[in-house]
Amino acid sequence: MTWDNTNPITVGREFQLFYLSLTDVTESFGLVSKDLNFSEDICAYILQKGFSVSQRMGWQQGTCWVKKLDKKELRNFPARRFTNSVSIYLRNSPSGFFPKPLALVYRGNPLDALTQTKEGYFLSHFVGNKRLYDLFENLSYTKRQAIMQRLGESLRRCAEIGVYPLDFAPRDIVLEPYNSKSKFGIPVIVDTEHVEFGEPNDAKLIKKQRQQFRADYEPFFSERKLDKLESLVFPA
Ligand SMILES: Nc1ncnc2c1ncn2[C@@H]1O[C@H](COP(=O)(O)OP(=O)(O)OP(=O)(O)O)[C@@H](O)[C@H]1O
Ligand SMILES: [Mg+2]
Repeated sequence: MTWDNTNPITVGREFQLFYLSLTDVTESFGLVSKDLNFSEDICAYILQKGFSVSQRMGWQQGTCWVKKLDKKELRNFPARRFTNSVSIYLRNSPSGFFPKPLALVYRGNPLDALTQTKEGYFLSHFVGNKRLYDLFENLSYTKRQAIMQRLGESLRRCAEIGVYPLDFAPRDIVLEPYNSKSKFGIPVIVDTEHVEFGEPNDAKLIKKQRQQFRADYEPFFSERKLDKLESLVFPA
C-alpha cells in the first residue's frame, strides 16, 4: 500500500486517517488535520529527522511544531497530548489559548504503536519562540503581573467549559507575538499532556490547578507576591 490520500478516511470533522508504506523506513500512519498540507515527502522527512532528535524534543517545521513523543507517552494510544488537544479544540475553547492540533504520526504500523516499539510525533500549530520561562527573569514585576492576569483569564475561560490544564509552568507557555490585545503577547499553553476535563468550574480541579500554580511559580516570586498573584489568577 502507498500513501492513501486519494481516498482518505475522514475522522470526525477535522482529521483524516492516513497509511503510508513505501519502504520499511517510511512505513507510517496517523491522523492529519484537513487544514494541514501534509505530503508523503513531509512525512518521510519527519520520520527521518526524528531519528536524530531525542525523545520529548521538538523542532519547528514551517508553520508546525513537531514534538517527538516521550517513550512513556507511547503507552497511551493515541497519545494523550493529541487526544487532549483535540478534545479542547472540539469544545470550541476560546481560540488562541492552546496551539491547534494538526497531526499525530507514528512510524510503523498500528501494531508497532500499540506495542510502543517505534516513534510517534505530535504536530501542532507553531506559536513562536518566546517562552515565558526565558523572558520572566528580565521582566519587571508589573509586566509579569500583567501576563499572569491574562493567564488567569484564560484559565477561567477554560474552567467555564470544563477544561483544566495542569501544565502551565513558564516553560509550558509560549507568548504569541504581539497583538493589539496585549503588549506582551497572549500566553499560549503549549503542553497539553496533562489536562483534566470535568464539569464547568469544578472546585476540586481548580484547587488542583492552584497547587500546581504554587509549585511552578514559587521559584519566580517571593511568597508575598506569589500569594497576591494566586488570588489574581484564581479569584475566590
Ligand atoms: N506549538 C508550539 N509552538 C511553539 N513552540 C512549542 C510548541 N509546543 C511546544 N513548544 C516548545 O517546546 C517546549 C516543550 O514543549 P512541551 O512542554 O510540550 O514538552 P514537554 O515534554 O512537557 O517538555 P518540558 O518538560 O520541557 O515541559 C516548549 O517549552 C516550547 O518551547
Ligand atoms: Mg512541558
